[in-house]
Amino acid sequence: MRKIVSIIAAIALAVSCTAPAGQEISVIPRPAHLQVDEGDFTIKKSTPIFVEAGNDEIVRVAGFLNRRLRTAAGFELEIREADLSSPGKGIYFLDAGLPSESYELRVEPERIVIDYGDGAGAFYGLQTLLQLLPVEIFADRKAFGTDWRVPCCQIEDAPRFPYRGMHLDCCLHFFDMDFLKRYIDIMALHKVNRFHWHLTEDQGWRLEIKKYPLLTEKGQWRKETVIGSLKSGVYDGTPHGGYYSQDEVRELVKYAAERYVTIIPEIEMPGHALAAISCYPELSCGLEDHYETATKWGVFKQVFCPKEETFKFLEDVMDEVFELFPSKLVHIGGDECPKASWKQCEHCQKLIKQLGLKDEFELQSWFITRMEKYINSKGHEIIGWDEILQGGLAPNAKVMSWLGEEGGIKAAQQHHEVVMAPYPKYYLDYWQADPDSEPLAMDGPTTLRTMYEYEPVPAVLTPEEARYIIGVEGCVWTEYMPTPARVEYMAWPRMCAIAEAGWTTCPKDWEGFTRRLEHHLGRLDNLGVGYCDAFHNPFIEFHKDTPYDMVVTISVDAPGAEIRYTLDGSEPTASSQLYEMPFVINRQQRVTAAAFRDGKQIGQTKYKSF
Ligand code: ACM
Ligand code: ZN
Repeated sequence: MRKIVSIIAAIALAVSCTAPAGQEISVIPRPAHLQVDEGDFTIKKSTPIFVEAGNDEIVRVAGFLNRRLRTAAGFELEIREADLSSPGKGIYFLDAGLPSESYELRVEPERIVIDYGDGAGAFYGLQTLLQLLPVEIFADRKAFGTDWRVPCCQIEDAPRFPYRGMHLDCCLHFFDMDFLKRYIDIMALHKVNRFHWHLTEDQGWRLEIKKYPLLTEKGQWRKETVIGSLKSGVYDGTPHGGYYSQDEVRELVKYAAERYVTIIPEIEMPGHALAAISCYPELSCGLEDHYETATKWGVFKQVFCPKEETFKFLEDVMDEVFELFPSKLVHIGGDECPKASWKQCEHCQKLIKQLGLKDEFELQSWFITRMEKYINSKGHEIIGWDEILQGGLAPNAKVMSWLGEEGGIKAAQQHHEVVMAPYPKYYLDYWQADPDSEPLAMDGPTTLRTMYEYEPVPAVLTPEEARYIIGVEGCVWTEYMPTPARVEYMAWPRMCAIAEAGWTTCPKDWEGFTRRLEHHLGRLDNLGVGYCDAFHNPFIEFHKDTPYDMVVTISVDAPGAEIRYTLDGSEPTASSQLYEMPFVINRQQRVTAAAFRDGKQIGQTKYKSF
């Protein structure tokens, strides 16, 4: 019987995912089922919001609609706590006992109804409602002359994965609280529910720990920062620092929780520990006279030494972490831990023998397993990067798969839960357009389309193993993102694609996604998100043909756009040569291309020569 029901559900889903093209509704991430009906409902100053009496959480959720209306429309709606049995005109939040995070949204000419089962479901129903309104609902000032019209429709929606994450490295560069709140706001709009907060590194320690004050007094600072690529050898001579006080952390945890985002703190071990070691050198293998917070990017051999005082330190740090972060899951890093120091260290070598371990990889596994035991004893669970698989996975650990898919596959096959965050597919520090015309980034390019088309459940997994893939995450490493503006430029709109992979059960549909994204960019514009607009620009790629020739391909993401190009250096117009298929150029020729729609250029002109 269960099987029949699930087959029917699968058929229903398949049908519902093929919503009519050209519809004016564009929700990101895409809802599981959406039916557009005739007519609309207009939100006016007099429209009441009804919630069940005594449900403070839903009153708070409804308040998010008022926040937007207050700014963009210049009015707020009255929230009435009432008996909801005989609905009149208004917006209704109804507890329909749906699964967590799920919602149903019905827009009729007389009323809007959001059915939910918990606060998260109500919140996500509201995020969708906001996306049904004109994009000006996201404006930071009054949008004069806008009718707050919502098209009639019926939506049934639920997430594909429980873990839909976005990471931010606040160590390579520090970001202030206002930016973090904004970051969480934009995540929540996309139904992303895990903020992975990277707080400790070789280049700076960012979390106040009362028992070890030096970590932030000293460890927050690096004396200068490499300029440009990590190999440049040129430094800016300017100290860089910043940290989050415990009061600020509590404030951010609460702020995130109100938006149904859980903050997962990351405390790196045993590698990426140089900032901590510079404050407390006794935590290292003691092979050097002096340790300093790193001033360039990369991987450093100065790592935590697995001795009693190190474990005491890390357990003390974890105790304060548990006080601050209600998340059951904590990230213990585990990546990129060179074994050079352990190989030279008398204590480490003695320990390997004493424990009967094969090598330093097994020592790392022992290190993580020992920490896991402590963390489990406090009621928390660990997640770590792929490398925690080396030498054997700790018994209850989850894996964040970043080194391609192999680690994720291996962990799922061993029945450990996995979050897929593979580089370069989900690494937002990679170029998203032609590196020749983009600011410095880590590597790439990884285009929006590449990210969108990536399927996070590896095909080699059996259905039973695939159940261990619990979600996805977009990673924002900030070597080359010194400012909030750079972070937003690199993260958006590509994170829309990752958010959609985490949420929707519909099959991939690149064309449909681009149509929705075109509209969605208007929301990001109103929010002032400084995203990379490669979406509207031609991407010219050269593929070596002979030593003298290049094969040229040009693509553009924007729907309904055509590409026009020239080879004589002149600016393309709507009547220049239409790009229809790859072509060959020689060394002397320069390709100049632009995208047009309805005879008008829609993005920037791009150039490329040999
Ligand atoms: C990583 O990018 N080192 C996890
Ligand atoms: Zn050692």
